[in-house]
Amino acid sequence: MRLKDKVAIITGSGQGIGEAIARRFSAEGAKVVIDDIVQERIDRVTEDLKAEGVDVLGVNADVSNYSQVHMLIQKTVKAFGTVDILVNNAGIIRDATIMKMSEEYWDEVIDVNLKGAYNCIHHVGPVMKKNQYGKIISISSAVRFGNIGQANYSASKAGLVGLTRTTALEYGRYGINVNAIAPGYIETKMIANIPPKIREMAISTIPLHRTGQVVDISNLCLFLASDESSYITGQVIQCDGGLKMP
Ligand SMILES: NC(=O)c1ccc[n+]([C@@H]2O[C@H](COP(=O)([O-])OP(=O)(O)OC[C@H]3O[C@@H](n4cnc5c(N)ncnc54)[C@H](O)[C@@H]3O)[C@@H](O)[C@H]2O)c1
Repeated sequence: MRLKDKVAIITGSGQGIGEAIARRFSAEGAKVVIDDIVQERIDRVTEDLKAEGVDVLGVNADVSNYSQVHMLIQKTVKAFGTVDILVNNAGIIRDATIMKMSEEYWDEVIDVNLKGAYNCIHHVGPVMKKNQYGKIISISSAVRFGNIGQANYSASKAGLVGLTRTTALEYGRYGINVNAIAPGYIETKMIANIPPKIREMAISTIPLHRTGQVVDISNLCLFLASDESSYITGQVIQCDGGLKMP
């Protein structure tokens, strides 16, 4: 058991990559908090995990909302006594080329993907500082290097890198490791609507010639959440079949 009795919050864990991370962590002994904004998703995952005997708490908190995130951390501490691991996974896309991109699209993506991570890191900091222990992992993206039609998303995911590095600098003295994962194309609902032709073209640019699975991300996230990675901080690790080699 690599995370025995550790308390982990995974944002946006009602489906997709976040759900896979929550399941992987709980299989390694963690108590998990399923945060999402869609109640049915929270209910499905929490009921499933409860049936497996996992200590699980479901919280409906919008990461882009400062006070709801405060409530998320408070509810976690009340239920489980502390927070050891935070995974900033909640993320959305609202694609359009820049000239066609509305202010609303821009703000929504930056608010959830970037401000959401700030809200969580900001509110969890004092809890982890008190423990002199913590693991913070944010899910960035290979798209942080730029992608046509995704200026808002790319900026938010590149912003997460600056946030990760700065938090690593500030929180390191408190025994907190802060890292990011940059996935490529991972099979979830987020990429389900890519037209087949574009999908084929995308796959042809991946050195491993295939898309990734959620388990590829949850395995790496487990490593970064465990003490096996205790001397790694401030890093962004690509998990993309070789798509980007920065
Ligand atoms: N799937 C990919 O190919 C891929 C690639 C690179 C990065 N990512 C990143 O991985 C993360 C997870 O992606 P996914 O593919 O599992 O997406 P997904 O859309 O399948 O799941 C995201 C979950 O986050 C929840 N969510 C949305 N807004 C929220 C908010 N404001 N507060 C709390 N929860 C919220 C959604 O309800 C949903 O359950 C995202 O940050 C995404 O940008 C995904």
